[in-house]
Amino acid sequence: MCGIVGYIGKRDATPVLVEGLHRLEYRGYDSAGLAVIARGRLQLTKTAGRVQDLRDKLGDKPGKATVGIGHTRWATHGEPNETNAHPHTDAGHRIAVVHNGIIENAEALRAQLTGEGVRFATETDTECLAHLVARELEASDEATLEEAVVATLRRVEGAYGLAFLDTKNPDQLVVARNGSPLVLGLGESEMFVASDVAALVRYTRQVIYLDDGEVATIKATDYHTTTLAGGAAGNSVKTPTVVDADADDYELGGFSDYMRKEIYEQPDAIRRAVMGRLDERFATAKLGGVNLDARELRNIKRVKFLGCGSAYYAGQMGAALVEELARIPADAEPASEFRYRSPVVDPDTLYVAVSQSGETSDTLMAVQELKRKGGQVMGAVNVVGSAIGRECGHGIFLHAGPEVAVASTKALTNMVVNFALLSLLLGRVRDLSAAHGTRVVNGLRNLPSQVAGILNAEAEIAAIAHRYAEAEHMFFIGRVRGWPVAREGAQKLKEISYVHAEAYQAGELKHGPLALIQHEMPSVVVIPADDLIAKNISTVEQIKARGGPVIAVTSVEIPDGLADATIRVPRAEPELEPILFNIPLQLFAYHAAAKLGRDIDKPRNLAKSVTVE
Ligand code: AGP
Repeated sequence: MCGIVGYIGKRDATPVLVEGLHRLEYRGYDSAGLAVIARGRLQLTKTAGRVQDLRDKLGDKPGKATVGIGHTRWATHGEPNETNAHPHTDAGHRIAVVHNGIIENAEALRAQLTGEGVRFATETDTECLAHLVARELEASDEATLEEAVVATLRRVEGAYGLAFLDTKNPDQLVVARNGSPLVLGLGESEMFVASDVAALVRYTRQVIYLDDGEVATIKATDYHTTTLAGGAAGNSVKTPTVVDADADDYELGGFSDYMRKEIYEQPDAIRRAVMGRLDERFATAKLGGVNLDARELRNIKRVKFLGCGSAYYAGQMGAALVEELARIPADAEPASEFRYRSPVVDPDTLYVAVSQSGETSDTLMAVQELKRKGGQVMGAVNVVGSAIGRECGHGIFLHAGPEVAVASTKALTNMVVNFALLSLLLGRVRDLSAAHGTRVVNGLRNLPSQVAGILNAEAEIAAIAHRYAEAEHMFFIGRVRGWPVAREGAQKLKEISYVHAEAYQAGELKHGPLALIQHEMPSVVVIPADDLIAKNISTVEQIKARGGPVIAVTSVEIPDGLADATIRVPRAEPELEPILFNIPLQLFAYHAAAKLGRDIDKPRNLAKSVTVE
């Protein structure tokens, strides 16, 4: 949610910043801007459009600056126009700042500054930071930029990732983190800073993840960090982490957009998730990141998955796997609800915080709430070094590889694959038989080729999606294993096509929503190979009897002519079927959105990681 980037070194800073912003654009794309220092003055370029508009505005003239900061915005305070685009400056154009997050006491700070005669140029919460830092520096000739930033941030409440530029100190950037990610990239006589490694990996793989409450001063050849809490840790240099990704992972590689690329990466993503984690001999799973021994695993009385959006639906699929394979009560809850409802935290429950980005504010807050109350929580995250992963301390790494499209596909798939591994592990220290465990192990091994088989049917799925894409509303119907699949299918369609899609449990239809069924309201009905085939067929008949078109998504034979369109899914081990059913629904949403001419990777109003409430 908002991307920030900074550079200091010997290169022309502008193209480095623009390239970084391009890589971070999935975090927000309402507006973009950058500031560099050239000949002692701040040069500011902003646009209400996309990073490409910023690139066009800048032209391709070589710049004179070797230091600068940039920003791509997902608006919170103030409409997404050029004025409100970052960077923001003080009145004297000495300080420029870019910000990811929300300053909660911005109104109070603004009122105070206005009372002192400061005139604001924008509606943003961020602008007050530029004024405050400038005033700290004006108040004392001795104050360093870092001291001015620290003094300012002690007055600030809220979440932020920040980068400051000072025309009177052009040899440095000062950055700070509290609740919004920030990573430093260490180069040869050059340094980078960004909201995530996507912006850095083409220059360096040596990175430093900042912690909440940390402030760093970055120069071309060195850096140091301090803490807001009075520098208790003193100035320090941290051990770099080597990023396990390179620039190619962020390229489109021949695809026209990231969502389709990532849909096609799923066979490989699943292979990575199971690689080295399946134990054929004992028909179980090995999860090196889970710091629980067999006795501790056996002592778990309940499992609760917490996540937001698709991560929550993945958690629902995970809960079904845990109950079926391990016979432990399990459920999932949106982390955004859990964190606010004063939950009873049970020490015998294993809480699993699920997040692709590892940054989602609601999920992070839920984890912190749990830890405060003594809950045992582990992470299921895709981004190494992310806040949720670090806060949890242990858990499962998803191994999906970098996911760029706002609509989650391969990360969602790998969440469920990993939950199957966790369920197998929990099941095999309980009552799950070796024979059943072996079936699940083999089922997991077969998934990549089965997913590839579904991808081969893309043209047929696209034709069906095109036929129904103009519908204003659609139902997604499922029951038991099919229910979270229906929810995720509806979510995918809504988010990228803007078609109103509502998921319903099949059995609940007749208690109200059936009234909506008519010719213009297609229903996608999920029919897995479980004990409920007859019930699901009867649901289809109820919809058909009322004139509603039906798209059946099924791994079983259904009567000819029952559905208006049928999408076939290969049979898998029954508990694993939801993993396969998600794939055609991703393609269905993708092709409906493509038919409607939507900007698939950058759906309106959304951003990839939601680091605000
Ligand atoms: C998925 O398609 C959505 N973009 C969204 O629901 C997402 O899953 C949610 O915001 C959670 O993100 P996270 O996995 O990074 O925590």
